[in-house]
Amino acid sequence: MLIKQAPDIRSSEITDERLYRNRRQFIRAASGAAVGAVAGATVLGQYDGALHAQEPISDLRKSPLSTDEDPNSYEDITSYNNFYEFGTDKGDPARYADEMTIAPWSVRIEGEMHTPAADVDIDDLLRPHTLEERIYRLRCVEAWSMVVPWVGFPLGDLIKRFEPTSKAKFVKFTTLHRPEEMRGQRSRVLQWPYVEALRMDEAMHPLAILAVGMYGKTLLNQQGAPLRLVVPWKYGFKSIKSIVKIEFVEDQPRNSWNISAPNEYGFYSNVNPEVNHPRWSQASERRIGSFFRIRTQMFNGYADQVASLYDGMDLERNF
Ligand code: MTE
Repeated sequence: MLIKQAPDIRSSEITDERLYRNRRQFIRAASGAAVGAVAGATVLGQYDGALHAQEPISDLRKSPLSTDEDPNSYEDITSYNNFYEFGTDKGDPARYADEMTIAPWSVRIEGEMHTPAADVDIDDLLRPHTLEERIYRLRCVEAWSMVVPWVGFPLGDLIKRFEPTSKAKFVKFTTLHRPEEMRGQRSRVLQWPYVEALRMDEAMHPLAILAVGMYGKTLLNQQGAPLRLVVPWKYGFKSIKSIVKIEFVEDQPRNSWNISAPNEYGFYSNVNPEVNHPRWSQASERRIGSFFRIRTQMFNGYADQVASLYDGMDLERNF
């Protein structure tokens, strides 16, 4: 996400061909390994109650909701990140996110719900859920994209567990606020803490997941450990990282990027090649690791599954 600078391909981002070939080999080897691991699995990925950094997560089922595209390399996915809590450069999260302590970690669940508000330890939050691998496209609003083999579970399963009332029209998420460990929060580049929200029917959609891992291992801090949202039909900024609070609310909350630049970032943020960002086109994207631009697909290629959520809505106005 950039506020003031149009995102163009910087010369430092242009990969030379040798590196590109190596990367493709690495991707093929890595995805082959992932498929092998999945093929051997007979039980579902039952969470066993301990999230340790970079622990392998065993027995993952491959989700039928996955794209069949090759995932980006592990290296790309963990070294080219947006996580403004650690700085605005794409390399800053990998450089500084280890300064964030992720254990112990609890998530506050509150708002319009029948069950009592609670601070739930991350292990207790995850224990009832079955983890699976979901390979999704991630399309950043800056017109680059990646394919990521997430490990996670449907957000809707967690929502049902806490029994929201009929007044709960939106689900709001908040990131950890700890400026002493998150150096970007000592600057005013955004209003902290980072917040995001989904309409309840969006949040209940089976494609919306909470992720705890990637490439069969628990998330690195720069990716939003220990728990982040992934909403594949929306621009990447909706996929809020390192979540400490989930609230069920009646009124539509404002999200961080909308607060920061309301004419540039709306609430819905559905990937839409026909509605341009005020300062650049959204018609095409560049897959990280590739030289070429490709055409951006409506709802990031998930239109068959999600377009009906927006029937009758003017998507130019509700951007
Ligand atoms: N969550 C928080 N808390 N802070 C952020 O700066 N950046 C968003 C999103 N989630 C961000 C965040 C943006 S702009 C994108 S594109 C994705 O995270 C990037 O996720 P990735 O680094 O895993 O690719």
